[in-house]
Amino acid sequence: MDDDYLTINRANWDSRAPLHARAYGLAKYVDDPELLSDVVRFDTPRLGDIAGLDAVHLQCHIGTDTLSLHRLGARVTGVDLSGVSLDQARRLAVEVGADIAYVQSEVYAAPEALGHQTYDLVYTGIGAICWLPDIARWARTVAELLRPGGRLFIRDMHPVLNASIAMTVADDHPDRQQQSWISGPGDVTIALELPYWEQPVPLEWNDEVSYVGSETVGSPRSVEWNHSLSEIVTAVLEAGLRLTALVEHDSVPFQPYPGIMTCDPDTGEYRLTDRPGRLPATFTLVAVKE
Ligand SMILES: C[S@@+](CC[C@H](N)C(=O)[O-])C[C@H]1O[C@@H](n2cnc3c(N)ncnc32)[C@H](O)[C@@H]1O
Repeated sequence: MDDDYLTINRANWDSRAPLHARAYGLAKYVDDPELLSDVVRFDTPRLGDIAGLDAVHLQCHIGTDTLSLHRLGARVTGVDLSGVSLDQARRLAVEVGADIAYVQSEVYAAPEALGHQTYDLVYTGIGAICWLPDIARWARTVAELLRPGGRLFIRDMHPVLNASIAMTVADDHPDRQQQSWISGPGDVTIALELPYWEQPVPLEWNDEVSYVGSETVGSPRSVEWNHSLSEIVTAVLEAGLRLTALVEHDSVPFQPYPGIMTCDPDTGEYRLTDRPGRLPATFTLVAVKE
């Protein structure tokens, strides 16, 4: 795959950024100087104390999670492919008086764009690695950004969620007599219909609306790759990192399947309304550079 994917996805994210800035409700971060994004608030028990750490946030988008890491006391640099996303992120940082550096770069070029500086923490996730064609190269890039003893923290979409779509069940399954887990005729359920393992050819999408709000996206075309859990773990280990945590969660901080997932008002996380034990929706992985 040549670098065309970067051009396609940059246009897509540039066109989504202003919509997301409206939908994410940036004013609330200005009104409440201690507010953390739901995403970072969810992460804090596993993230631990990050005060005083040098951190880089890969694929930081419009900077709400980056600002939250800053509010937890880290010295943060945000990196993203999309200049329009970074404009929004910089505007928010200025408005709240947060000293955050933002650098425009695609992930694999980040070490060079950051002057080969190294960090105590690489933070990323929630719709990050699906935009990258090669998970092994991503892990090597992360390792290059970390100083010895530094750690990677990623919470991202579970590859099972990425491989799923919602479908209506047509027939009654004979095993439903024995297993109440199995959906019946007319139920909307999740079905594994997309690739689970990394493929050389990406999935191409043309989505007129983004995952938040209902405004139309100017550049709807995007390309994505899935990476299996074992591919992610193996990539991290082969890049010289030691795995210290791997957790699978039944919830995700946006609505992937309206109608069958319900928002928990305390966390802002969505999980299957019925039988949530069926779907790993996100994972957290933590790994340390030896
Ligand atoms: C779903 S957003 C990340 C979400 C973030 N957690 C949030 O909600 O604020 C994905 C981000 O990845 C960026 N991106 C996509 N491909 C990239 C690449 N190859 N290198 C760097 N950033 C990339 C996009 O510009 C976008 O800002």
